[in-house]
Amino acid sequence: MFEQLTGHEDPHPIYERLRALGPLSGDGGLWVTTSHPVANTILRDRRFGMRFSDGSRPANGSLLAESFLELDPPDHTRLRRIATPAFSPKKIDEYRARVEKVADALLDRDEFDLITDFAAPLPISVISDLLGIPDADTAEFADYGALVAASIDSGVTAEMADANDKVLELFDRLIAQRRQTPGDDVISSLIAAEAEKRLTAQEMLSTLVLLLVAGFETTVNLIGNGMRALLDHPSQWKLFKANPELASAVVEETLRWAPPVHMTSRIAHEQVHRIGKDEVVTLLLAAANRDPEVYPEPHKFDVMRVHKPEHLAFSSGIHYCLGATLARMEGEVAFRALARRMPDLRQTGPVEFRDSVVIRGLKSFPVSRS
Ligand code: HEM
Repeated sequence: MFEQLTGHEDPHPIYERLRALGPLSGDGGLWVTTSHPVANTILRDRRFGMRFSDGSRPANGSLLAESFLELDPPDHTRLRRIATPAFSPKKIDEYRARVEKVADALLDRDEFDLITDFAAPLPISVISDLLGIPDADTAEFADYGALVAASIDSGVTAEMADANDKVLELFDRLIAQRRQTPGDDVISSLIAAEAEKRLTAQEMLSTLVLLLVAGFETTVNLIGNGMRALLDHPSQWKLFKANPELASAVVEETLRWAPPVHMTSRIAHEQVHRIGKDEVVTLLLAAANRDPEVYPEPHKFDVMRVHKPEHLAFSSGIHYCLGATLARMEGEVAFRALARRMPDLRQTGPVEFRDSVVIRGLKSFPVSRS
């Protein structure tokens, strides 16, 4: 059924057809759920993992297959623990003023593309800074990172494998520099962990690629999808402009209504009810976020909505997004800056969509300050 999907059209009519089949439907060992409680339960259930029960990885995996995103415990636990301190709420809060400055500088313009001139450069600059990638290298990392991210959708092409080699080379060079002169950045903290034999050189590289790609390929769509939703719902945009303290509510409703990541999957490591050992379940996070059993009027974009339970845009369980606090802060800063600096913002031409069906958002969104 997913073959019918493209990144261009609204996938929710297809998700609703799947929902009509029941909370968990399946065919030939491939299962799919649109239900919030079922998806949440599977994501939290240790009998499900990212890999098959013998530790092998699914064919057609992405270039992030060796990163902790696609590993099961105990390796997942060990590597995630090493990366976690860099993304603690306290660290991220200390970082807010710098993000505000970047956002402000990016908005010194009148006619621009909301994606390529604002929503993309903001998280790219933030994650590069956190990791310790110098400004001079940021554009190169970003271009290659985008290709690595594309492999999440389509599997690995020769062009993507080549881009991956380039990112690894660039990181190798930075790691060598940081070994000489450590700084207050994630690369330096991973080098310290490597010296204590807590991770291998290979694991350090795959962790860095994961943080780079996860750090910008998703957040760009939180900002883009949220701004599009606000401009398409003028009463909500007006409400937010009059009440900038609603920034966090705008972020949460965007994540529920137009999440950057539409789906993920898990593999059963043993028979669980109807799901057989080593069978795969696709979890439609975007459909779970519009589960009518959980959210009244689920298709309505409403920033005043009470989010209980939490949407699944950041997943759930042990792989819950490590960058969630950072992404939320970047989204809040971006929406507030746009509302304050550009209250008359308007769309000036047609939007262009990304091709991806997993990571959903816009490639281009032409706008004008007035
Ligand atoms: C709005 C922006 C973002 C969204 C919607 C998002 C979404 C997600 C989702 C759905 C997962 C889990 C996938 C699964 O369970 O299979 C995930 C994992 C992850 N995300 Fe994010 N993410 C965002 C921003 C970020 C940022 C800014 C970072 C910073 C580096 C980040 C780093 C990670 C990492 C490291 C993981 C792997 C966690 C693990 O496997 O334990 N994400 N993200």
